[in-house]
Amino acid sequence: MAYLNQNSTDLPLPVRIGLIGSGWMGAFHAESIARRVPGAVLAAIADPNVESAEALARSLGPVKVTANAEDVLADPEIDAVIIASPARFHSSLIAQAAAAGKHVFCEKPAGQGLDELDAALAAVEAAGVHFQVGFNRRYADDFQAAKKDLAAGVAGTPQLLRSLTRDPGNGSIPNAARVPAWTIFLETLIHDFDTLNWFNEGAEPVEVYAVADALVEPGLRDQGFLDTAVVTIRYTNGAVAVAEANFSALYGYDIRGEVFGSKGMVQAGRATETAARRYTADGMSADTPRLNVELFRQAYTDELADFAAAVRSQRDSVPQSSSDVTLTPGAADARRALAMALACIESVKRRAPVAVAGLPTASALSNKAGV
Ligand SMILES: NC(=O)c1ccc[n+]([C@@H]2O[C@H](COP(=O)([O-])OP(=O)(O)OC[C@H]3O[C@@H](n4cnc5c(N)ncnc54)[C@H](O)[C@@H]3O)[C@@H](O)[C@H]2O)c1
Repeated sequence: MAYLNQNSTDLPLPVRIGLIGSGWMGAFHAESIARRVPGAVLAAIADPNVESAEALARSLGPVKVTANAEDVLADPEIDAVIIASPARFHSSLIAQAAAAGKHVFCEKPAGQGLDELDAALAAVEAAGVHFQVGFNRRYADDFQAAKKDLAAGVAGTPQLLRSLTRDPGNGSIPNAARVPAWTIFLETLIHDFDTLNWFNEGAEPVEVYAVADALVEPGLRDQGFLDTAVVTIRYTNGAVAVAEANFSALYGYDIRGEVFGSKGMVQAGRATETAARRYTADGMSADTPRLNVELFRQAYTDELADFAAAVRSQRDSVPQSSSDVTLTPGAADARRALAMALACIESVKRRAPVAVAGLPTASALSNKAGV
């Protein structure tokens, strides 16, 4: 029997991806592209720490290696880049990648200030390239199931929302002195802000009130290191949200989200590694995930599969299969969550509620919510 469509020229060309930044997250993304994302290949790795890039390349197959991101951006064989450098480089790398005509996946935060991010997003728009930010929680099965329930109205009108991040730890943070100031808002809670915005789709965050402290490493408080924070957020639809984070949960990596509304409640997030439970004379126990790449292995893979599919669709002018709920986090999502993180920093400094910049004012909230 003859097989149809076996001419290799009928197969779409894989999306050729260059990685910029080969540290903890970049290495995992590189491995995902090389081994788990169909239709994508890892073509190049750039890192000023070229030994790190070379070691990664050796483990993943034939991949070009360079110390300079510019080499990847100038490479005509590269369709798209994954930016996983430290956050302070993100906005300028996004702008340079867009100007070079590369589609961009950027780890969060996409920038550290609204001006630099706006310039980068303007470059993305001018170039017409696809842009995605690394808000991976949207791709976790349970968060997607919750989103579908919310879109179907299961919780009714949102009234209270909650999102939390408890990073795994052992009660101390050995590299805390090297963690950039305000990381808890700019790099950790920014995930929670996106989750809350996504769960409360259609409403805008208006005002935040943030309280933060160094409770895990109190000795570093005077240096400005913050490891524990709680944020209340008011939205234009009147809903009130709480986001909280801590850098040292002894029991593992704990990520949860919740929406309580006029008809009920929807929850996402699980503190256990699998659904298995052990029942013994001592009671019940279960394994817990210890690393982000354990808990979010599937989500990290799926966010890149979504990115590669979008790039292929745009490059080859073929329709991309659509999700039944809003999924891909893009420019507006990156900006909205960053604006919230920046407002939180201001709120901690002033010890007062702060309006979220560039979004509706607090008086808009009063009018809408009738308070
Ligand atoms: N989505 C998530 O769950 C998640 C988890 C961890 C980290 N991240 C994000 O990923 C980014 C990187 O974090 P990480 O933990 O991998 O950091 P890391 O320090 O482990 O790695 C950063 C790498 O970038 C390289 N680098 C430095 N300057 C560079 C430049 N100008 N161009 C290219 N590479 C450069 C460094 O040499 C290093 O290898 C951060 O923005 C972080 O917030 C996201």
